[in-house]
Amino acid sequence: MSVKFAVLGHGVVGSGVVELFYKNKKSIEKRAGVEMDIKYILDLRDFPDSPYADKFTKNFDDILNDDEVISVAECMGGVEPAFTFVKACLEKGKSVSTSNKELVAEKGDILLKTAKEHNCNFFFEASVGGAIPIIRPLHRCLAANDITKVAGILNGTTNFILTKMYNDNMPFDEALKLAQELGYAEKDPTADIEGHDACRKICIISSLVFGKHVYPKSVYTKGIKDIQLCDVEASDVLGYAIKLVASVTKLENGKILPCVMPTLVSYDNIMSGVNDVFNAVLVYGDGIDQTMFYGRGAGKLPTASAVLGDVIEAVKHKVTVLSQSWESSSDDSFVSKISEFKSRWYFRVPSGSAINGVEVYNSDYGMSFITSEELTFTQAEAKAKEFGALACLPVLE
Ligand code: HSE
Repeated sequence: MSVKFAVLGHGVVGSGVVELFYKNKKSIEKRAGVEMDIKYILDLRDFPDSPYADKFTKNFDDILNDDEVISVAECMGGVEPAFTFVKACLEKGKSVSTSNKELVAEKGDILLKTAKEHNCNFFFEASVGGAIPIIRPLHRCLAANDITKVAGILNGTTNFILTKMYNDNMPFDEALKLAQELGYAEKDPTADIEGHDACRKICIISSLVFGKHVYPKSVYTKGIKDIQLCDVEASDVLGYAIKLVASVTKLENGKILPCVMPTLVSYDNIMSGVNDVFNAVLVYGDGIDQTMFYGRGAGKLPTASAVLGDVIEAVKHKVTVLSQSWESSSDDSFVSKISEFKSRWYFRVPSGSAINGVEVYNSDYGMSFITSEELTFTQAEAKAKEFGALACLPVLE
């Protein structure tokens, strides 16, 4: 008898899960050690032409009350009704694998606790970095390390847009439209552009690595909407690529500092060469020094690959994986304020600005320059105000 699972949502990712499962069913079953099949696909829309039309249901209770379904792939996105559905499945002992970053970033602690109480698993490899294995390596393969920092390009859409702007001189809006057509962007792409998607992902990484739930509201987040072609060009002349970098650093005072900001990444840094929809995550630890994970960060089959990897794990692991967990947090006093963030900074200032004591590295692009000193975020803000800066971005060597 085959093991049955259900797929919640038949959008980009959900339809990818169904497609990849049936494409590779034989090898998936070999790896899982059992025969498997999809029993239900939940979606409110009709798909009469789908080869799997007989599996569709609009009623979540069909899945919840079917004891044959032991595992569920949640690919609906958003907090509700995903949270209610996922919690109900876990309470019935059905393991859940999700690609839903918002759900994990807002409710991960509750869902992990529920899974533990009901001896099943809440897996979320697909919620960070698309196809890249990063969640399992962080709590398993790298478990021997004191992890001091994680920094990465965690949003495929913005990396795609920045690459198109740089390589093809493509205007921002055109690049965004293309990213939407390719299935990279969120339903509401402002979540990508304004950095909220990357913020959710660094919250998940921070919670997993440092053991306490980090909420998006505690994380300073700035997106790419103010980046102009002239910033991309100027930073190139200076030897840097502009990337939307999400990072979390363990500070000497024991607090952590997560944030998301467009950043000038030096061409000497391996992350500067991460282009298009690709993501990269750099992990720094006392044993490993640094390790980079790289791959497609968004899209139908890359994300489906991660979801199905988790479904296979859920079928194989009959007990809760305890290393993949974190505590709830009643306050965010363990999260440092952005004012402590220290860096060199790039400014773009209007021509003719009075710049005293700061070296101008290149003045072809409306007076772009990088300060040679290390400033905290607060000091950089003050300088930006003093110069009337039009852009102010940290620099990563
Ligand atoms: N909109 C997301 C991105 C999808 O562009 O990275 C993958 O999480």
